Amino acid sequence: MALTRRLTGFQATGKLHLGNLLGALRPLIAAQKAEGSVALIADLHAMTVDHNPTDVRENALELATVLLAAGVDAERTPIVLQSHVREHTELHYLLECVTGFGEAARMIQFKEKSANGGPVRLSLLTYPVLMSADILLYDVEQVPVGDDQRQHLELTRTIAHRFNSRYGETFTVPDGVRPEAAARVMDLADPTVKMSKTVGTGRIGLLDPPEMIRRVVARAVTDEFALVRRDPRQPGVTNLLDILTACTGSVSSATSYRVLKQEVTDAIEALLAPIRARHAELTADPGYVRKVLAAGADRVRPTAAATVARARRAIGLLD
Ligand code: ADP
Ligand code: TRP
Repeated sequence: MALTRRLTGFQATGKLHLGNLLGALRPLIAAQKAEGSVALIADLHAMTVDHNPTDVRENALELATVLLAAGVDAERTPIVLQSHVREHTELHYLLECVTGFGEAARMIQFKEKSANGGPVRLSLLTYPVLMSADILLYDVEQVPVGDDQRQHLELTRTIAHRFNSRYGETFTVPDGVRPEAAARVMDLADPTVKMSKTVGTGRIGLLDPPEMIRRVVARAVTDEFALVRRDPRQPGVTNLLDILTACTGSVSSATSYRVLKQEVTDAIEALLAPIRARHAELTADPGYVRKVLAAGADRVRPTAAATVARARRAIGLLD
């Protein structure tokens, strides 16, 4: 497992949270001994909805800092800013030529985000194809993503198979990687929705101070069963148990919700304290993070260029 090339990406839209760490980032870090894994910061994706240019730039740099703080070893696993490697947009267009309008319009996230009737950017519709380009550029074998991204990964696999069978073997078709626990960490204040960067109040940010972690967990919604067990009728308690298992690898011995919440608080704090400390060190030197991004793009460009050259030739473009 440790020698399998993996890639995963994060939108530069807000602060990373516990769901991002457990669902996608930790599985990437677990495979970083493999030559050819990539940690991607999707800044182009952050422009598929109303955006503030200054925020996109700042979020990109901050996200890179958090990835380093969380343990991405940029010497082994380059941290790449999507907009720094132009092949992402070039391959995006080529892949649009093998994707149906209906396929893109069927994506649940597009349907949800476009449902309120307001103006919708065309890039919101085509964003899963850009995500497919992100993945297929680097010949990776596995893509760790949380459950909310599985449909986009399936689309990627469909497009890659279609391209390969119409125009000749061009892309490696990757598999998804699902963490055993915490593929869908739920919002602690509303365990019927997933923890997210943008909606909900029961989110644990990776840089949240200990007192905030304690407060958010203490207020986590439970139920009146007063039974510490995994049960679909107890989504709040099930979520707490899943988080505990994902953080510690062990199961709870608690018999009350109060004790369970204490265990969860301690487990999260043990996981996040070193990330906070390393983040504080890194912010003292923003020039270093910029260098990491420049080096990351330089490292991966040859692979990206080779993939695009293969795809151009296969689909019918002159050299
Ligand atoms: P968000 O959905 O919070 O805005 P992203 O869209 O940038 O975050 O997601 C980055 C990665 O983190 C994706 O692989 C996504 O599936 C994963 N992820 C996001 N939220 C969760 C969650 N609550 N539980 C598990 N994984 C998640
Ligand atoms: N679309 C993903 C999300 O919103 C982020 C992302 C962009 C990604 N490119 C990717 C995830 C490539 C995995 C692989 O969460």
